[in-house]
Amino acid sequence: MEKIVISLGGSILIPDDRDGDFLNDLATLLRTLTDNMEIYVVCGGGKVARYYINTAREFSATEEELDELGIGVTRLNARLLQLALKDIAYKEVPVTIEEAAAQGRPGRVAVMGGTTPGHTTDGVSAALAEKVGASRIVNATSVDGVYSADPRKFPDARKFDQLTFDQLGKMMAGGHGAGNSHVFDPMGAEIIKRCRIPLFIVSGRDLRDMEDAMRGGRIRGTVIGD
Ligand code: UTP
Repeated sequence: MEKIVISLGGSILIPDDRDGDFLNDLATLLRTLTDNMEIYVVCGGGKVARYYINTAREFSATEEELDELGIGVTRLNARLLQLALKDIAYKEVPVTIEEAAAQGRPGRVAVMGGTTPGHTTDGVSAALAEKVGASRIVNATSVDGVYSADPRKFPDARKFDQLTFDQLGKMMAGGHGAGNSHVFDPMGAEIIKRCRIPLFIVSGRDLRDMEDAMRGGRIRGTVIGD
């Protein structure tokens, strides 16, 4: 059975817009898909994580301490998704990729958040995908694909249908900082390039595109691969 890892951006889980309805619809989709695939979800922290990180930065907390705050929020989000998934999720949020891998089985969804300081949940999703031998990673994010520039600032930015691992790598300049946002995280980009795991980037609130990506079909978003 195919194994799929979803990196679910925190901005998708809780943008403050009918969040309960969305989580219910997402849970229904995942329930349907568990018939044909083994699913792992890594939840991000979104603006709640950024709020905590920015507030604690005013107290001169270290980057590691700020990362730990972010990790706490990602795990809270993971628990929320577990509750929406009801009986197909577990009651414990795994704190390592090994624990998450041990939860993987047909008919169930393993849901986790972050692990350790120094990367983001995109990096965790790539490490988990390598660990379980996933066929692909679906990055459900707040934009509907990868653009040549930020489409919110530059209206004539161009969306890419397809990118190579090397092209993604070149977009990752800047490294990690608590709360920093990239298309994908530098550690994750490194892992998927080494392991040749395709990455499907879709708008997380577009559940049709998310389903197409989960099934490895054509998507409106961007596919990163060879
Ligand atoms: P996210 O994975 O949500 O990062 O984790 P992000 O890229 O800032 O968020 P999105 O994708 O734009 O929504 C939130 C923060 O938690 C810490 C980092 O500081 C990260 O920025 N974190 C998370 C870790 O240090 N380690 C982890 O494994 C996960």
